[in-house]
Amino acid sequence: MQRDIEKLKAYFQDAPADISLADVDLERLPRHVSLIMDGNGRWAQARGLDRSRGHVAGVDSLREAVTTSVRLGVDVLSAYAFSTENWKRPQREVNLLMHLFATTLVKELPLFHQENVRLRFLGDLEALPKETRDVFQRGLDETERYDGMTFALAVNYGSRAEIARAARLVAADVAAGTLSLDDVDADAISSRLYTAGLPDPDLLIRTSGELRLSNYLLWQLAYTEMYVTDTYWPDFDRWEYLRAVRAFQGRGRRYGGVVNS
Ligand code: FPP
Repeated sequence: MQRDIEKLKAYFQDAPADISLADVDLERLPRHVSLIMDGNGRWAQARGLDRSRGHVAGVDSLREAVTTSVRLGVDVLSAYAFSTENWKRPQREVNLLMHLFATTLVKELPLFHQENVRLRFLGDLEALPKETRDVFQRGLDETERYDGMTFALAVNYGSRAEIARAARLVAADVAAGTLSLDDVDADAISSRLYTAGLPDPDLLIRTSGELRLSNYLLWQLAYTEMYVTDTYWPDFDRWEYLRAVRAFQGRGRRYGGVVNS
């Protein structure tokens, strides 16, 4: 965990009435925060705009969430950008999103350099257009040496497909004799998921009020605290992030055991 306290205070100046930096305990922050960024389309429609404008506005919120995570000193931020089911959207919207991922990544690379952020992707990137895949690879190459925060973007991601893939990898290792059947445990699966090496999320934030997981990190979210806000993703800002952290810190995490006082 890295944190610049002066930058942190400056970043959280001009607090609204209901929340400020003083409301969270900086010693008990979630290590891994994960985001289901929902409500871009509704945000745009509510303003009489094309849905695509919601996605474009959503980029600004994601940039702010990355910066907020860095300022607070969160170790990992992950975000669900495109699911394996999102291919069913109109072709025009899919094309726009793919293009937006590529152009945004190029535009935001300086932020990753400046803030020592390492990029990762969760999902099957093979099916993405070449433009998007090439830019993603460039992002991976240019940030692989960074050891500050990890930003993991889920693109063409589906949790059931991820777990099935891990099962295939386990089966292949068992068949090859490099893994014994007795060693097939939770760690054997975890280490073959796209999130291998990352801690499980401590806090999942879902915007726009839906109460479901949408095939996102089903394995990894086993003991994660959830925070659902009615705010549409393009309106999600640093203060809403702090409210989520405050709610997280008000919970007693038990992991199936008893409450720690
Ligand atoms: C959900 O809103 C959002 C998405 C499917 C796309 C997420 C993409 C972004 C936030 C854009 C920026 C991301 C990157 C990585 C550049 P929705 O369209 O499902 O909204 P709705 O539920 O109101 O229809």
